[in-house]
Amino acid sequence: MNEVYNNMLNRRSIRKFKCDAIKDEDIDVMLKAAMAAPSACNKQPWEFYVIKSSDKLSMVKASGRYTNMNAPLAIVVCGNHDRCLSKKDNDFFIQDCSSAITHILLCAESLGLGSLWCGAYPMNSVVNKLRMALELDEKIIPLGIVYVGYPDEDKEPRTQYNEKYIHII
Ligand SMILES: Cc1cc2nc3c(=O)[nH]c(=O)nc-3n(C[C@H](O)[C@H](O)[C@H](O)COP(=O)(O)O)c2cc1C
Repeated sequence: MNEVYNNMLNRRSIRKFKCDAIKDEDIDVMLKAAMAAPSACNKQPWEFYVIKSSDKLSMVKASGRYTNMNAPLAIVVCGNHDRCLSKKDNDFFIQDCSSAITHILLCAESLGLGSLWCGAYPMNSVVNKLRMALELDEKIIPLGIVYVGYPDEDKEPRTQYNEKYIHII
């Protein structure tokens, strides 16, 4: 099977990281992968906040109950209301930003990095803490935090294939 398929099975949520910093060129590769993602009407309603500074990282990590990871890098993926499809259909940003996050996770795997997706929106308390930490405008909605770092734990590759969830009509 090809590399992308293997990455899908190998990618696991990593919650223990080494302290080594991520190379800037690897960050660029992940952001290029993120912005190659599909989005509704190709609106690309995303913004990526790349958090390296230790004080901002601490604030991001403290934003939720299950978001405190020791990764050296966080990418906070946000939707921008100004680039959403329309007022009525603005929730498409959730799918658009989720597709970008998935690209980051799979790209991190290719680079030998571990990653973890932590949810923000629609949890108001997490969204508000991230807004304060990153000084985000009201039109910017933090959808998720992606932690990235060199993994300090091993996890088995797996599919969670289950015939029960398949409906062939
Ligand atoms: C929308 C979303 C939100 C998540 N939020 C958290 C989180 O806040 N904290 C956390 O430790 N893991 C979080 N995860 C990771 C899931 O727990 C993980 O993907 C799931 O247990 C499956 O494990 P795997 O990623 O190793 O396949 C989140 C995943 C998604 C897709």
